[in-house]
Amino acid sequence: MSPPVKLFFLAFLALLAEVHGQLQIGFYNQSCPTAESLVQQAVAAAFANNSGIAPGLIRMHFHDCFVRGCDASVLLNSTANNTAERDAAPNNPSLRGFEVIDAAKSAVEAACPQTVSCADILAFAARDSANLTGNITYQVPSGRRDGTVSLASEALANIPAPTFNATQLINSFANKSLTADEMVTLSGAHSIGISHCASFLNRIYNFSNTSDVDPTLSSAYADLLKAKCPANSTRFTPITASLDIITPAVLDNMYYTGVQLTLGLLTSDQALVTQANLSAAVNNNANNLTAWASKFALAMVKMGQIQVLTGTQGEIRTNCSVVNSGGLGYVGMGSGHPSEVATS
Ligand code: HEM
Ligand SMILES: *[C@@H]1O[C@H](CO)[C@@H](O)[C@H](O)[C@H]1NC(C)=O
Ligand SMILES: *[C@@H]1O[C@H](CO)[C@@H](O)[C@H](O)[C@H]1NC(C)=O
Ligand SMILES: *[C@@H]1O[C@H](CO)[C@@H](O)[C@H](O)[C@H]1NC(C)=O
Ligand SMILES: *[C@@H]1O[C@H](CO)[C@@H](O)[C@H](O)[C@H]1NC(C)=O
Ligand SMILES: *[C@@H]1O[C@H](CO)[C@@H](O)[C@H](O)[C@H]1NC(C)=O
Ligand SMILES: *[C@@H]1O[C@H](CO)[C@@H](O)[C@H](O)[C@H]1NC(C)=O
Ligand SMILES: *[C@@H]1O[C@H](CO)[C@@H](O)[C@H](O)[C@H]1NC(C)=O
Ligand SMILES: *[C@@H]1O[C@H](CO)[C@@H](O)[C@H](O)[C@H]1NC(C)=O
Ligand SMILES: *[C@@H]1O[C@H](CO)[C@@H](O)[C@H](O)[C@H]1NC(C)=O
Ligand SMILES: *[C@@H]1O[C@H](CO)[C@@H](O)[C@H](O)[C@H]1NC(C)=O
Ligand SMILES: *[C@@H]1O[C@H](CO)[C@@H](O)[C@H](O)[C@H]1NC(C)=O
Ligand SMILES: *[C@@H]1O[C@H](CO)[C@@H](O)[C@H](O)[C@H]1NC(C)=O
Repeated sequence: MSPPVKLFFLAFLALLAEVHGQLQIGFYNQSCPTAESLVQQAVAAAFANNSGIAPGLIRMHFHDCFVRGCDASVLLNSTANNTAERDAAPNNPSLRGFEVIDAAKSAVEAACPQTVSCADILAFAARDSANLTGNITYQVPSGRRDGTVSLASEALANIPAPTFNATQLINSFANKSLTADEMVTLSGAHSIGISHCASFLNRIYNFSNTSDVDPTLSSAYADLLKAKCPANSTRFTPITASLDIITPAVLDNMYYTGVQLTLGLLTSDQALVTQANLSAAVNNNANNLTAWASKFALAMVKMGQIQVLTGTQGEIRTNCSVVNSGGLGYVGMGSGHPSEVATS
């Protein structure tokens, strides 16, 4: 193809993608070619100081995508009129890495003002975190736009609880168009990171009227957890346990081995061996690191496409914790306002 024809062809493809509202690998190739590497540098720098930000960012992307789609609604601050997602019980105070997204956003804004969405930055940052903790790499389709609404009540309603059983987990993911197998695959993210005592207290105290401890939890491990976690722990009690006690800092398949050995920390972790089809997936993942890692990458890409805003929907936020139109972020403002419609 001659250069002008090629250019026309590329522009035509870009238009098609926009019309169909799809994300594209390399969406910022022309408009901000350094975007992905600037995010990677910000994440790598933060990780070098505190390795906990990697699990934090992977979880943050999940919590973003499960509430109004991957639109960076999880990053918005509460206002006088509105309690935002990040202040809901599943996020506050356990969600971490907000300052890393802000640092990445500052670097990207300096290079290409008002071009790269916070939702894409979060998706890139989660990918970079998987690379840093498990050498799991994948390309992230981008072109997401940022939402203008963030409601704590929706976080509570859409983020699965750690006390969920297999049926509840399957339904929660099915509601986001993710299969039971993808739910098991993505639960492998619990191969890194931590949980506050309050998230597994139900398993170690007052489990039932016949047994103080959940019988599906290793009793030796339960003793260890009881020594660590006071019975009056709340989500604000700053005591934590690793989600994967075998290789707590490596994003690998040892989480599944732990579940096989009744070392799953949360009710929802151990629930993966309570149904035959889920249990088979746990065994497959435990037996083949390569197979799980590639399924994990695919499932992360799929999760990253839940209900995304594209084209002229939403906005490109300037500051990831406030909406452009004045920092309100309550229902009824923002989306589609003429001043926010992209001109590209
Ligand atoms: C299957 C349903 C899931 C439930 C019920 C669940 C629940 C939880 C809970 C309760 C915590 C600990 C929070 C705390 O107390 O500090 C946690 C941590 C975490 N979750 Fe999940 N989760 C689920 C799925 C996922 C998925 C799909 C991902 C990502 C793909 C994910 C990534 C993480 C990570 C990385 C951590 C550690 C966070 C950190 O160290 O800061 N989880 N999860
Ligand atoms: C961006 O460039 C990469 C590498 O050349 C290519 O794979 C990708 O398709 C490009 N994306 C767009 C939207 O141009
Ligand atoms: C390094 O991590 C600690 C927490 O572990 C945090 O308090 C501090 O602000 C971080 N410093 C930088 C420069 O990111
Ligand atoms: C959003 O809230 C965080 C945490 O309270 C705070 O550090 C940050 O400055 C706030 N951002 C804005 C733009 O007000
Ligand atoms: C939000 O609260 C501020 C003061 O806290 C008030 O001035 C404003 O009118 C409120 N907006 C709405 C839409 O309720
Ligand atoms: C993965 O991380 C390493 C170490 O920071 C870096 O050198 C490499 O470029 C990253 N790979 C990808 C695909 O991001
Ligand atoms: C990371 O994975 C790539 C293949 O995806 C491999 O070539 C490389 O050696 C791995 N790096 C490490 C540090 O294991
Ligand atoms: C799972 O939890 C739901 C809601 O509490 C309950 O109705 C259902 O019976 C439970 N299923 C199993 C298999 O325990
Ligand atoms: C998810 O649940 C909501 C609210 O119950 C419902 O409106 C929506 O259709 C469900 N989506 C899917 C894909 O099941
Ligand atoms: C267990 O439950 C009993 C009865 O509901 C209650 O009195 C007791 O305080 C509980 N203990 C703990 C450790 O939560
Ligand atoms: C223990 O709980 C079960 C249901 O969880 C109930 O059927 C049974 O009556 C209870 N027994 C006592 C002694 O409270
Ligand atoms: C929680 O229990 C511990 C002892 O297990 C006690 O030292 C502490 O004061 C209690 N905290 C609260 C807030 O009740
Ligand atoms: C593990 O999975 C990979 C990729 O799916 C496959 O090529 C390989 O044969 C599997 N290894 C075993 C031992 O099953």
